[in-house]
Amino acid sequence: MTGLRIIVGADEAGVDYKDAVASDLGADPRVAEVIDIGVTRGDDDFTKPYPHVGLAAGQAIRDGLADRAILFCGTGLGVAIAANKIDGIRAATAHDSFSVERSVLSNNCQVLTMGQRVVGLELARWLAREWIGYTFDPDSASAAKVKILTDYEGC
Ligand code: RB5
Repeated sequence: MTGLRIIVGADEAGVDYKDAVASDLGADPRVAEVIDIGVTRGDDDFTKPYPHVGLAAGQAIRDGLADRAILFCGTGLGVAIAANKIDGIRAATAHDSFSVERSVLSNNCQVLTMGQRVVGLELARWLAREWIGYTFDPDSASAAKVKILTDYEGC
């Protein structure tokens, strides 16, 4: 497996976790590239609303610029809802190991989201490390179920 190209993104309510996980991913040999789409403290766009972050991440994956994204906001919900607006993108909010695993192995999600106001930092970092270890099996029984979604979108 070649390294993953992973987008990290957040609104101002998730930026601290985004920066911590970006640092972890940058030191992980399973990761080829970390693409930070902001927000960034001190930048003009620091207060950019969460939908812009989720939409930008989803568009970049759709366009082949990245393999996956991990996004943060206050709850993780808003950035997931936004990313899921992009055809072909499956984003899930998950704050436990089992859901993180299933988001990839059952649902073939390319996007994991978490809430900085919901989960502790060390658990978020742990879950991010676990998440990049999972790869969807296109020959699994889950593939036909995911296909129902992609067929609906016309992908
Ligand atoms: C703050 O704007 C907060 O509402 C946001 O980060 C997120 O939790 C929305 O889903």
